[in-house]
Amino acid sequence: MSIENIRSLIAQDMGAVDEVIREKLHSHVALIRQVSEYIINSGGKRLRPSLVLLSAGAFGYSGKRHHDLAAVIEFIHTATLLHDDVVDASELRRSKATANALFGNAASVLVGDFLYSRAFQMMVEVDNMRVMQVLADATNTIAEGEVLQLLNCRDPDVDEENYLRVIRYKTAKLFEAATRLGAILGGSSPAEEEAMAAYGIHLGTAFQLTDDILDYSGDYQDTGKNLGDDLAEGKPTLPLIYAIKNGSSEQAAIIRRAIEKSGDGGFQPVLEVIQQTGALDYARQRAQDESNIASATIASLPNSEYKECLLQLAVFAVTRNH
Ligand code: IPE
Ligand code: IPE
Ligand code: MG
Ligand code: MG
Repeated sequence: MSIENIRSLIAQDMGAVDEVIREKLHSHVALIRQVSEYIINSGGKRLRPSLVLLSAGAFGYSGKRHHDLAAVIEFIHTATLLHDDVVDASELRRSKATANALFGNAASVLVGDFLYSRAFQMMVEVDNMRVMQVLADATNTIAEGEVLQLLNCRDPDVDEENYLRVIRYKTAKLFEAATRLGAILGGSSPAEEEAMAAYGIHLGTAFQLTDDILDYSGDYQDTGKNLGDDLAEGKPTLPLIYAIKNGSSEQAAIIRRAIEKSGDGGFQPVLEVIQQTGALDYARQRAQDESNIASATIASLPNSEYKECLLQLAVFAVTRNH
């Protein structure tokens, strides 16, 4: 089964989600429409809303609330990206100029706020306290993750545990919310809900680990983002953390300096050390471990096409090039 199979299983539902997104993007303020439509229609993978739909499907959900909640999750994701591209000073996303590059930082931050608050209006309409709790917690944790990461910037002493905490907070938490919401809507048992939540956490961790690997090894034509952005921002991601710990003192010094001075010395020497020390292979193995745990946690769910797709997404998270 491939990503195409996943898309076709949920094609109708995703059409309904897109309809909710279109309707809810509406604002009388033209700049809000301009910026929000620009980013939301620019070809994201719609992975997190897919998780809501697949998770609800795995529990036989037959209502329509999953369309609203999938749209909520995509709005929150989009708001984090608008803000993230400002703080990361990124210029390319989804193979296009970032919103901050095109409309400026102020417009990006403020439209991000619009999307966050629109998401909260939509979740209140669902009128389910559990759902609101999950989404409020997720949004708060993502913000903590981004701030924790800010504190880690230009710090070569950040260790693997600290790095993993950042990616669990900033990325895996929203994956967890997406899969948990599907389970809640589908009337899962508490144990099943926890299994879906654990699947989301480990899938999201594998996904971000892979993202950080692609920042050193990908192709911008595939990822739609500039390579080397993490280094340019002085971000101690796992490939660098591993290379510092396991490289020679000369190799460690090259990486430490690049982190402290945000890419000073250039990308190439850092890339060489990463390759020589096997840092990318190590990070790939860690991503694979997370993916394996994700699959194992949902092994006991009843078999269905939805479950097959969730298992396939665990493979995609670590084999993707985009
Ligand atoms: C980008 O997420 C942000 C990360 C957590 C790495 P995606 O790669 O899912 O972004 P889009 O929505 O498909 O562009
Ligand atoms: C993703 O973080 C943004 C959030 C999860 C909030 P990154 O900064 O690592 O992702 P990209 O590379 O910009 O997509
Ligand atoms: Mg970024
Ligand atoms: Mg970032």
